[in-house]
Amino acid sequence: MTLDLDAKKVLLRKIPHGLFICGVREGDDVNGFTASWVTQGSFEPPLVVMAVKADGSSHGIIQRTKKFSLNVLKSDQKELAAIFFKPQKALGGRFETAPFKYGILGLPILEESIGGVECELIGQVNHGDHSVFVGEVKSACLHEDVEALNLNSTGWSYGG
Ligand SMILES: Cc1cc2nc3c(=O)[nH]c(=O)nc-3n(C[C@H](O)[C@H](O)[C@H](O)COP(=O)(O)O)c2cc1C
Repeated sequence: MTLDLDAKKVLLRKIPHGLFICGVREGDDVNGFTASWVTQGSFEPPLVVMAVKADGSSHGIIQRTKKFSLNVLKSDQKELAAIFFKPQKALGGRFETAPFKYGILGLPILEESIGGVECELIGQVNHGDHSVFVGEVKSACLHEDVEALNLNSTGWSYGG
């Protein structure tokens, strides 16, 4: 059986996605990247599922530290999302234009976001070019309950 690659691409790109900034920290090193492959995985305990590029800088940090944050962007923060997927001069450089504080688990929470959750890694699947990380939500900080940015509204695509 051969996979119809064109059909697969069209269909997988129909999956709706939000846009988030995932934050990671290892000692003095802080980093963040734009993530769209994110969903909730359980009510109790509250779990989130995120796929992370296996060759990205943040992947190893999540594996080693076993934690990550997810910041929810406002509908008008497309430019910020772009900063966090473009190459940076040095690890953490993307935060120069995005003030943050550390949450209870010591992970970056963007001050101008809707808010952020901090998660402890409880499981992972390493298979393919992204690893699927499962995190248990341990802290939640809400700044402002407004409309969130979604991938469809940006005209970008990540998927297929
Ligand atoms: C619209 C969009 C959505 C993205 N979603 C994800 C994602 O869900 N997971 C991921 O690992 N990378 C995703 N990326 C790519 C990362 O943001 C990008 O590779 C980033 O440079 C990784 O940073 P790092 O190497 O510092 O960890 C996305 C990129 C774009 C343009």
